[in-house]
Amino acid sequence: MRYTRLMKRRTPLLIFVILIGLAGIFSYSRSHSPAASTDKVSHSATAPQSKPAPGFDKKQFSTSLPTSPWVIVNKQHPLQPKTYIPPDLTPVGNGQYMRAEAAAALSHMFDDAKAAGLTLTAGSGYRSYDTQVSVYASEVRNFGQTVADSESARPGFSEHQTGWAIDISGGGCNIGDCFGTTPQGKWVAANAYKYGFIQRYTTANSASTGYRAESWHFRYVGPALAQEFHDTQASSLETFFGVSGGPNY
Ligand code: DAL
Ligand code: ZN
Repeated sequence: MRYTRLMKRRTPLLIFVILIGLAGIFSYSRSHSPAASTDKVSHSATAPQSKPAPGFDKKQFSTSLPTSPWVIVNKQHPLQPKTYIPPDLTPVGNGQYMRAEAAAALSHMFDDAKAAGLTLTAGSGYRSYDTQVSVYASEVRNFGQTVADSESARPGFSEHQTGWAIDISGGGCNIGDCFGTTPQGKWVAANAYKYGFIQRYTTANSASTGYRAESWHFRYVGPALAQEFHDTQASSLETFFGVSGGPNY
């Protein structure tokens, strides 16, 4: 009898304790679910909570604006305008320049390579329209137009003009196939994505990029896209974004 009365008095308290416990378990499991721990979108306290889009958001940046880190420049897509000059050009050593964000990432990568005992230098970064006129003309003069078009962009069609591209030298190899065989070249090929760079021209992607492989040419696209390229083993910017390219102007 005493027991029944006691239970009657304590039942509301018990229910309350059970509800608090259940709420705690529910909130712990939400905050430790994979979706919650990888959701980097911050919401304000008053903003409606919407589910993050599944997968990688390919619309975060433009692929056509020359200021965008995702801009695609190839034989089908020249700079707009062709004489475009990027903002915030920043020295990256050896008399070369890149956009500020790319320059900071390159410096970080070069520092880490140095700590691993490997010295890397900037071979060729930003190139103006006029510089590309000379580079392309010299290629045509030395190797003929067919070879020139397989490895050098015509003026207004080079991603070096965006300030997002860099030719890296090291191991006694300056802008040549030998770079890919050096410890320096192998280190960059394996680690560049961690700093936001992708190898832009490979043997596998030459049909979509329109250029032969260049083991020395890296393109800054930002850490998120570089990581996505690495994780999905994406081939080229053209195939990833479904943008036309190829060997013909
Ligand atoms: N070598 C690359 C394709 C350029 O000239 O931009
Ligand atoms: Zn290059």
